[in-house]
Amino acid sequence: MNAKLSPDLAHEDLDAFWMPFTANRQFKANPRLLARASGMHYWTAEGRQVLDGVAGLWCVNAGHGRPEITAAVTRQLSTMEYAPTFQMGHPIAFELASRLAALAPPGLDRVFFTNSGSESVDTALKIAIAYQRARGQSGKTRLIGREKGYHGVGFGGISVGGIVNNRKAFATAMLPGVDHLPHTLDIAHNAYSRGLPHWGKHLADDLERLIALHDASTIAAVIVEPISGSAGVILPPVGYLQRLREICDKNDILLIFDEVITGFGRTGKPFAAQTFGVTPDIMTTAKGLTNGAIPMGAVFSHRKVHDAFMQGPEHLVELFHGYTYSAHPVACAAALATLDVYASEGLLERAATLAPQWEDAVHSLAGLPHVVDVRNFGLIGAVELESRAGKPGTRAFDVFLRCFERGIMVRQTGDTIALSPPLIIAPQEITRLVEVLGSVLRETA
Ligand SMILES: Cc1ncc(COP(=O)(O)O)c(C=O)c1O
Repeated sequence: MNAKLSPDLAHEDLDAFWMPFTANRQFKANPRLLARASGMHYWTAEGRQVLDGVAGLWCVNAGHGRPEITAAVTRQLSTMEYAPTFQMGHPIAFELASRLAALAPPGLDRVFFTNSGSESVDTALKIAIAYQRARGQSGKTRLIGREKGYHGVGFGGISVGGIVNNRKAFATAMLPGVDHLPHTLDIAHNAYSRGLPHWGKHLADDLERLIALHDASTIAAVIVEPISGSAGVILPPVGYLQRLREICDKNDILLIFDEVITGFGRTGKPFAAQTFGVTPDIMTTAKGLTNGAIPMGAVFSHRKVHDAFMQGPEHLVELFHGYTYSAHPVACAAALATLDVYASEGLLERAATLAPQWEDAVHSLAGLPHVVDVRNFGLIGAVELESRAGKPGTRAFDVFLRCFERGIMVRQTGDTIALSPPLIIAPQEITRLVEVLGSVLRETA
């Protein structure tokens, strides 16, 4: 096989790249190559236009190829391509942190920069444990995650995460002292809920059971995604996040929201914490922070958490943690330009405006062959399919492939098709996305 896949690429050139979260052999036998992007679309290497139904990977919230971001990145590259932030600083890092603090829920105004969601999660977990120690509670080290949770792929993230395929190969290498809440996906009670499901608030009470088992004096933090994406769009039942907050407060446990996918407008406000009216103590973000243009993450800490570290002799480093590329100047420039685009086009609120049309559109898929649930919130949607006997995931994978052939990009996890388009999506593009998905569902056995 040495046919050209694109002007510069032959089949044998695919060998060296060990692709992430990909069935490498299957992909390389029949590759799907994206060559360029603009606005709501990708174009394949063969020149076919594909409507982006997933904002790349939940990150290109302002749409592709934004000239404002390109210009800011180019400018920064020619001004100062790199500067360290260990014992040094550069102005736009401070400017970006202040801009982010102003956007965040009240109190979450201290910002630590990372390069990805996974690093944001590991940073947040480390801050939580170190915070407890800094305030004289060094026994509080246990972390509570949730079944089906996805918190990236670092050892901390997979330990608090709850997706078995991400964990099983590393079983003995997990962080010690981690426990998990039950997940909140319950199709028997909540199938076809519009927006948040009404059944399941009591699932948060399981935290009290874990506290009774381990004792609050051993628990540093609870980490959850306000809405899980990677395990197939799992929504918090009405009142659930509030209940977690109450139990954490009562027991002096930090609450961490992983907003890597919900941050930057996905739910109709800058952060899901604001949409749901529940303020965590620490919040992890990445993805939409730079519109996916340059890798960057940010961890927002409540000032009380940050200030607990600001003790002792002033010449001593307070937190022994950081990355060579924390607050990379080019990423900061991309993020500042992204925030400007979000603000000038009202994109952080746009999901709320589109949500009613979006909800009706995705729920129009109910009743199609093999559909067993439809879920939605903000500009997030999911269609759950019945699994083929003995072959979980294959039906949704076939749907994903056919959608791509028909010119829409959706995301498959297990037997769920997830949708999370750029926030610039036009009403007629919502219609098209769902029509194409519907026609593929009708044809998929
Ligand atoms: C909730 C959540 N946390 C963390 C991550 C990991 O982010 P990254 O892939 O940038 O490391 C993701 C990625 O999808 C995510 O959805």
